[in-house]
Amino acid sequence: MYGSIGGWMFNMYLKSFSNHGNKEASLMIRALLKSSDIMYRSVYNVSRPEDFDELRQNQNFLYSITKRLVIEALSDANSSRKSLASVLTSLDMSIEQITTAFVGIFQESVEPVSLTLTWALYHLARSPEVQEIFRKKIRKIISLSNYQPNLKRQRIPNRQYLEDPEIIEYFNKIIAETFRLNYPTIGLKRILQTSRIISGYSIPANTLVSTQNQLVGRMAKYFEDPLIFNPERRFEFKSMVLMPYGIGRVCGGAWFAKKIMLIALVNMVSSFEISYNYEDIGYINKLYNQPSRRIILTMKETKI
Ligand code: HEM
Repeated sequence: MYGSIGGWMFNMYLKSFSNHGNKEASLMIRALLKSSDIMYRSVYNVSRPEDFDELRQNQNFLYSITKRLVIEALSDANSSRKSLASVLTSLDMSIEQITTAFVGIFQESVEPVSLTLTWALYHLARSPEVQEIFRKKIRKIISLSNYQPNLKRQRIPNRQYLEDPEIIEYFNKIIAETFRLNYPTIGLKRILQTSRIISGYSIPANTLVSTQNQLVGRMAKYFEDPLIFNPERRFEFKSMVLMPYGIGRVCGGAWFAKKIMLIALVNMVSSFEISYNYEDIGYINKLYNQPSRRIILTMKETKI
């Protein structure tokens, strides 16, 4: 996720998966994770005295690297593809404004996408039959003649699948079911403008209220056999039970999140049979809902 978002914002891949690892990418991701941990403590009034200084250091670090990347993107005037940074300068935004916006985008995007993908792979690994249905749909589009075993990076040589309605429909079902069982964040948050009575409780104005998406997604009242991962389940997010990308003021990168997750899952599922052979994984509710421990998946290369 971190690598790909660089392509969109700066017109350069950020090398987070380079063979030798990319130190800067790891430091950036660490700063993002630390910042969200501190924000989580602040939201729940359990801040530590050192949090403010740590948040400032991490945000300064993110800002300085992002600003350098913005400047590099803007100096790459010869590129045929425009970066978001260059589009924003043409709208008269200053380098500082673009940098601030981009730090926000990093903060809002890296964790939810990585976590959703992690949970989706975990559920797929435990549901070989769902994986097989998805793989068959992908194979219909990616023909044998396109398969080049010695050129793994070109294994899916064209991006036809990005527009294939059958693949997209099934991908949407997989992600919807992943959101239901393991939504990456707590839920939607708002500060009450006026005092309200909610479910019989009197809540004063200026209180931070939040939906609890994962809890609702697992309630038998709304979903039959709620703990079963079943992409064929019929439900409607707009029913207000779950709103994965928000309502009213919504996610600014939903389209990007969907594309990145589609590309990642199609590549993984078409190339590997994924399995998970250990006990159930729990989750830790923080600003972002994390797995309670490392998820170890077994990946076996598929034969076409
Ligand atoms: C699975 C992935 C993602 C989920 C579930 C998700 C969900 C959300 C939600 C629920 C909000 C809050 C809306 C509200 O204020 O109530 C939000 C805000 C936002 N998201 Fe996402 N998001 C995802 C990925 C991304 C990505 C990839 C980007 C950028 C490329 C992004 C950019 C943003 C931005 C900029 C905001 C702030 C919007 C504002 O404050 O007005 N998100 N997202």
